Amino acid sequence: MSWLKGWVTPGDLRAAGVLGMNERNYGYILKENKRRNFKNVDDKLITKQLAHRFGVSSPGFIGLISCQYEIRKFEELVAGRNEFVIKPTRGSGGRGIVVIKGRSDSGGYIGSNGKVVPLSYIREHLSNILSGLYSLGGAPDKALIEECVEFTDAFDGFSYQGVPDVRIIVFRGYPVMAMMRLSTAASGGRANLHQGAVGVGISLSSGRARRAVMNGRIVEKHPDTGRDLCKELVVPRWREHLNIAAGGYEMTGLGYFGADIVLDRKRGPMLLELNARPGLAIQIANGEGLGRRLERLKSGISGLELSPAERVDFSLKLFSSD
Ligand SMILES: Nc1ncnc2c1ncn2[C@@H]1O[C@H](COP(=O)(O)OP(=O)(O)O)[C@@H](O)[C@H]1O
Ligand SMILES: [Mg+2]
Repeated sequence: MSWLKGWVTPGDLRAAGVLGMNERNYGYILKENKRRNFKNVDDKLITKQLAHRFGVSSPGFIGLISCQYEIRKFEELVAGRNEFVIKPTRGSGGRGIVVIKGRSDSGGYIGSNGKVVPLSYIREHLSNILSGLYSLGGAPDKALIEECVEFTDAFDGFSYQGVPDVRIIVFRGYPVMAMMRLSTAASGGRANLHQGAVGVGISLSSGRARRAVMNGRIVEKHPDTGRDLCKELVVPRWREHLNIAAGGYEMTGLGYFGADIVLDRKRGPMLLELNARPGLAIQIANGEGLGRRLERLKSGISGLELSPAERVDFSLKLFSSD
């Protein structure tokens, strides 16, 4: 794919079916997504409630702290639990998320990095979340407390520190393209491609890695662990990942979104969040443009009402050669 290596003209990109920012914003995000449905994904509490209602697996709900006064009930909410996650309902980019993995002898908690997190810190953190420190536009927010995902060890050696997740783009309920994001030492354990994480294009039909890219360049091995990314990486329970992603359509009414899915060792694939404005780097990871796939879907899908599983079947057939 020459367009990934050297300088190319916009015409080259169009010929490769690459979706540009404007086309994504106007042709898909705004055209396919009704304004009133954005809240279904911009607020993680609403997304979680919808997932529950539509039978889509997601981390269990523990509690909600919605005003300063309620901070005092935090300990009661997590009583008897050693693991949980605190997150702003309108956060993004991992900001404001605290993962607790245990309790310390001093009455505090233990964070995912093994360090003690005093109760006083958590109270202050909750207060910061409520005041909107981590949230879209800095507006006042709520703190969601949910169960901790017990991440599978199927991806051991494919990620440095951070937790790998799968991103699947869904158009009118049909899976279109998939990638995995693997954190690296350079990305500081975060799975953000702009910060130097590895993006792996995942075959929609098989769940196998197609190719891997870091900082816009193709890589064969994970830079920190040395594991071969393309030959060995395959997502277990792939079909369930696709079903969850497709089910996000009924949940939200959005015609274009990205579903972020993580794999729990006991509960299987779970929906972590949905994004109505998914990035375009998935095209680089796959070495293929979204535009052509979206056009194929547009002309292929009929007006028939299909179930999520039937739509997955359709996509699997349409994109069987990836
Ligand atoms: N329930 C959870 N259990 C374990 N880790 C979690 C959980 N929720 C979030 N995380 C961690 O935080 C990261 C970001 O979470 P996410 O819900 O996607 O929020 P954001 O919108 O900020 O990206 C995840 O990739 C994961 O590493
Ligand atoms: Mg996320």
